[in-house]
Amino acid sequence: MKRFSINLQARKIFQSVLCLTITLCLLASCSPKFTGWSKFTEFTFVQMTDPQIGFRDNTPGFEKSDSLFSKAVEAVNTLHPKCVFITGDLINDAYDKYQDSIYRANRSKINADVYEIPGNHDIRPWNPENHAHYLELRGYDRFSFRLNGCAFIGFDSNCIKDGWEKFEDSVVSVQNQQATGSQILPFFKDMDLWQDAMDAEDNQLKWLERELRKARSCRYIFVFLHCPVIREDIAEKDDYFNFHKKRRIKYIELFKKYGVDVVFAGHTHMDYDTTVDGIRFVTAGPVGSPLGRGYSGYEVVTVTEDGVDCKYVATPGVSQKLPEK
Ligand SMILES: [Fe+2]
Repeated sequence: MKRFSINLQARKIFQSVLCLTITLCLLASCSPKFTGWSKFTEFTFVQMTDPQIGFRDNTPGFEKSDSLFSKAVEAVNTLHPKCVFITGDLINDAYDKYQDSIYRANRSKINADVYEIPGNHDIRPWNPENHAHYLELRGYDRFSFRLNGCAFIGFDSNCIKDGWEKFEDSVVSVQNQQATGSQILPFFKDMDLWQDAMDAEDNQLKWLERELRKARSCRYIFVFLHCPVIREDIAEKDDYFNFHKKRRIKYIELFKKYGVDVVFAGHTHMDYDTTVDGIRFVTAGPVGSPLGRGYSGYEVVTVTEDGVDCKYVATPGVSQKLPEK
């Protein structure tokens, strides 16, 4: 009799625990964000992008790039950021050891944890050899970690740009030639190269989705990559400085599914900031030489109880044309 009653009690406890677990699981899957945080400490992080040592720099010893990076690091250190993200194009020529030594010397002066991802000048183009070279130099090409209840996830945009996008470009090119009756060129000679990049993107995408799924209950989810998914508008024209339409829709849908808050990119050497379907797309201007209306600077991000403030700031002490306020 006693044994029966103990079994009954154990079964009741098991049922209660099971019920609670199922309820918690249902709550987590229904609500993209957990909002019941009781305590939160405000913090700052910084995004630096495109120091690109050697880019548009004819000065002896790449003095100009060195100075731009050095002044930016000096200014960023005064902000005491929790961490610093360098979103690619670390140096202009991935195989130039002198450029790399300048990059490393400045990077080592950053008084915070630094996380990097590759730009198109760091793996140029995406192929197994260039990718392996990057991994040998930097150790990793993606990251995912938590800080103060927020998720930080960075990945490589090169395999996306150099895989499916190049393949799709070529298909369109062949179709155009067929339509105009012009001679069809052997566009698919690089198929093996694209295939490697496409496989790399597939693998990375599986990893990315896994990491985003795990991050769903975080207070904020921040994503980092080199090439912007979009700069200003989801319908903008495909070009060198954004994802092709099919890719951008695919990634934006993924970010929406898992509640990504801000996507940080670089590559354009001028800053943009736009919001699509509740996701903010920040494209920071360069630490190094700017293009067009751009100017050298870095993105300062303050995360508070009430939200996320992102601001692109000109590097102090650099003589350059700034936009009128
Ligand atoms: Fe770039």
